[in-house]
Amino acid sequence: MTLLNKQKSYLFNIWGNDFNSQLSPVKFFDSPLWEEPTGLFTIFHPMHPHIYEFVKLQKQRLWKADEYPIDRTREQFDQLDAIDKKVFEYTLSFLAFLDSVQVANIADMEVVYNMPEYKIWGATHKYFEVEHSIAYSNILYGLFNQNFEEVKRIFYLAKDHPELRRRNELIANNYQKLFDILWEGLKNVTQEEYARTLAHVFAGTYAMEAVTFYMGFKTIEFYQYKYGVLPMTNKMISEIKADELFHVKVMATIIKTLKPYITRYISEQEFDEIVVSTVQSYAEADLQFYQSVLAQNNFGITQQQVANYIKFLTDKRLKLLGYQPIYGIEENPFEEIDRLYGYLESHINEGKKEAFFETKSSAYVTAELDDKVLEDFKF
Ligand SMILES: [Fe+2]
Ligand SMILES: [Fe+2]
Repeated sequence: MTLLNKQKSYLFNIWGNDFNSQLSPVKFFDSPLWEEPTGLFTIFHPMHPHIYEFVKLQKQRLWKADEYPIDRTREQFDQLDAIDKKVFEYTLSFLAFLDSVQVANIADMEVVYNMPEYKIWGATHKYFEVEHSIAYSNILYGLFNQNFEEVKRIFYLAKDHPELRRRNELIANNYQKLFDILWEGLKNVTQEEYARTLAHVFAGTYAMEAVTFYMGFKTIEFYQYKYGVLPMTNKMISEIKADELFHVKVMATIIKTLKPYITRYISEQEFDEIVVSTVQSYAEADLQFYQSVLAQNNFGITQQQVANYIKFLTDKRLKLLGYQPIYGIEENPFEEIDRLYGYLESHINEGKKEAFFETKSSAYVTAELDDKVLEDFKF
């Protein structure tokens, strides 16, 4: 029977079965075609209903970057001193890169997902990351609308600034392997190597959602906290942050749910090592970046606070996945800013509650989502 030695996957697999409990949520090579989905799209009997619940919850948070007012307060930006300006530019360029690489990477994860609920999650997730990319474009163009060359310079710091490029390449290279494997049609890779690559990709996505964004968010919050500048930018950032916090929980759940499937091909120990070392490598790249860029120039936030915040966050996110903390930092150095703009654990914060009735803040919806996620998924 030729079907046993599958040469390729079918878009419309007439031998398939969508209701087979042996199906894997991610594609692997060795399953015969009759153990794979048909490609007919249905969601009435999802294998992992909690993934579809995430889709419904995410859709409740629908917001549109284009409908947000943007800061056209170039004068405010010009009042910042040189180091503040520099950090703000790096931050914007880095955040724009992160969401760009996510849009590209999630497209590959959509291909890898086998089951409808995962594919819908991938599409929904990507939609929101695209919206974040639009938000960063709008922030940049809004602030520098008089000068396109300036916009381009900041946008391209992602590749032109050596420290930023190093950090960005580390992140991109984590996904490049899957990109290559898919490009070659899964032909030149062993099952073990493929499983390993998937573990890297899911861990990297989690690390981004859970750690890498937050010093950037904190920087923009800090400018408003310290100088009262860029209020609209901060408003948009708070929407993005609420999405990312939701993604932390979704990606943690996906990693836990996929682990038994991926560890059919690599050991549990290797899987755990890949996840922990990937999260740590992203955190170390963050630490190194701020050390080299800021050197002795504090921008109101000290080097020590930056380092402790990244370490505190990394520990917290590893614990969420069920792993041991690696840095032992238990105190959040930005407790006060978090109370105002924050929410690292819960989406509820005092500043947002007050602002709810006068702005388009979706803090309440987000708070409800948070409760529901916590209640349903036992974080
Ligand atoms: Fe994002
Ligand atoms: Fe995200």
